[in-house]
Amino acid sequence: MCGIFGYINYLVEKDRKYILDTLLNGLSRLEYRGYDSAGLAIDGDQKNEVYAVKEVGKVAALRKLVEEQNFDLSKVFECHAGIAHTRWATHGPPSRINCHPHRSDPNWEFAVVHNGIITNYKEIKTLLESKGFKFETETDTEAIAKLAKYFYDRRKSDMTFPDLAKAVIKELQGAFGLLLKSVHFPDEIIAARKGSPLVIGVRTEKKMKADFVDVEYTDETTALPAEEATQNVALKKANTLLAPPDKSLLHRSQSRAFLSDDGLPIPTEFFLSSDPSSIVEHTKKVLYLEDDDIAHIHDGSLNIHRLKRDDKSKDVRNIETLEIELQEIMKGKFDHFMQKEIFEQPESVVNAMRGRLDAANKTVTLGGLRQFISTIRRCRRLIFIACGTSYHSCMAVRGIFEELTEIPISVELASDFLDRKAPVFRDDTCVFVSQSGETADSLQALRYCLERGALTVGIVNVVGSSISLMTHCGVHINAGPEIGVASTKAYTSQFVCMVMFALSLSEDRASKQKRREEIMEGLTKISDQFREVLKLDQPIKKLCERFKNQKSLLLLGRGAQHATALEGALKIKEISYLHCEAVMSGELKHGVLALVDENLPIVMILTRDAIFDKSLNAYQQVIARSGRPIIICHKDDPEFPADKTDKIEVPANVDCLQGLINVIPLQLMAYWMAVGEGLNVDMPRNLAKSVTVE
Ligand code: F6R
Repeated sequence: MCGIFGYINYLVEKDRKYILDTLLNGLSRLEYRGYDSAGLAIDGDQKNEVYAVKEVGKVAALRKLVEEQNFDLSKVFECHAGIAHTRWATHGPPSRINCHPHRSDPNWEFAVVHNGIITNYKEIKTLLESKGFKFETETDTEAIAKLAKYFYDRRKSDMTFPDLAKAVIKELQGAFGLLLKSVHFPDEIIAARKGSPLVIGVRTEKKMKADFVDVEYTDETTALPAEEATQNVALKKANTLLAPPDKSLLHRSQSRAFLSDDGLPIPTEFFLSSDPSSIVEHTKKVLYLEDDDIAHIHDGSLNIHRLKRDDKSKDVRNIETLEIELQEIMKGKFDHFMQKEIFEQPESVVNAMRGRLDAANKTVTLGGLRQFISTIRRCRRLIFIACGTSYHSCMAVRGIFEELTEIPISVELASDFLDRKAPVFRDDTCVFVSQSGETADSLQALRYCLERGALTVGIVNVVGSSISLMTHCGVHINAGPEIGVASTKAYTSQFVCMVMFALSLSEDRASKQKRREEIMEGLTKISDQFREVLKLDQPIKKLCERFKNQKSLLLLGRGAQHATALEGALKIKEISYLHCEAVMSGELKHGVLALVDENLPIVMILTRDAIFDKSLNAYQQVIARSGRPIIICHKDDPEFPADKTDKIEVPANVDCLQGLINVIPLQLMAYWMAVGEGLNVDMPRNLAKSVTVE
């Protein structure tokens, strides 16, 4: 949900063309996070000038508009700070005026790009309007730029950029990842994060002296200036928010990391982004900002400031090495990222199990949970909390957790869990499942559970994401970057990791050993079986032709396959825009059967398991109404003679793992239906990859 990208160099000469290309390419890589408009701000020909370009639509439209400007592309900068943004609208519809960067005033004294939501922007706006500021957009972000100018104008003489940023950030409520640039502090960038991801890539021309950056803490002081006391309640509230900045501390110190042996700053480039996958083409050295970090980049140095020290505060941020390879974020031979990610699943599930599952020795080792496993075994309940596809993966493994652990299990949609203010206790274990690790509803629910003292576990793909940092322990699913908005490989890797979690929890149960061994054996077959199912790609494409011009589609599954049906239906809806309803087969006769006739397209999941006979009832009910469903069934199942049904035949695995296999034909179906309609598979309308608003 919105991608931000920034670039700043120091003593590395770069021309304007390079700077623009770097920003635009960065945005293209982030486009999956939002693609209704895009914009950037760079230095003008004079140091006190900013050139800003904004356009509605995809990054390609912005690129075109940039090309149409008469910028001097050959102008060389030894130091230059540029910021850019690709948007998924929350406040204000997509339009040139509403797209980022936003400015403090017509001269662009302060320019900001922001991902997240400022919940108190109306109060800030009311106050600033009363001070003569004119707002030009419908966004919450504009308040940040104007607030910066308001503070700057009041405290010009003694204010450094980080001091100003601290004053501004102290007043912001909500969630943000933001970049701030200013003509008053040329060649400097502020990057701040609270609830929205931000990562900084570092490329130096000489070896760095240290692989960490110190964190500097500044104690908070907030005194309300007498002249701003007011009787107006709204303003008073806003004025309380707008306490003047702290006593200024001059932080111009150089981080040790960026000094050469002779103590001089080294030529450096910094790449700032919402997602490391947009940085990997420039450098693999990255530093993940944590919530409440305010990073200041200047003179080739990166300094991290925080307003308060608390129990969890660490004194350094490590500069880490990214493990993503460039080809992982390229489409390669595929037409779409979603297609590539579907076809990556034979490898991504292996990566989820690598070093963890040892089927020969019948062990599962999840390093990130090791210390907590015995506590989790004794918990009162296991509550799985997630949204969308991640919620479906929790639904898919609920049965196997119940069976292996005999702990009461509930699976919750994060938003609903919060709406109900569901009871959570200290002896509960709450498991947060998320591809991005940044989904606002899940993050809110995580905070809620932490406040109530529950043990929290993260099952997350993105390393360094908020959920992975905030939970007590967890498992990275290691699916690699997932760029297509419709989640595919993350689903199967979450599924596999959660099955391994259930296997770990039941390790001490003698009565479950046979079943555990059977599941471990099943896990070792998954990758090859995925390869086998993926061979059905072209026949599935052909089958999808019959869905053309349809208004609706039913997807039926029972038991664990209900989760598969839910996930398949979500995939079909989100990328092909065809209404698709997942129905628990047992419920068909309770109402939905009224829809069934010879015309309604129906897909039924009928792989054999303990409740196969019951699932067959639904099949008979459909056939009796002249329906001709497409059946997902085991290979050569005699129950379904080829002349009577259209079949998608899949290999058999252990019942609790069968959903992994069955979901793949549905992913392919969704893909080919969208392609058949000529739709943008990777960027479906109205959606964004990471939903960082509630
Ligand atoms: C659907 C999809 C979404 C996400 C949901 C949660 O294809 O991708 O439904 O699953 O927004 O996102 P994460 O898993 O990042 O928390």
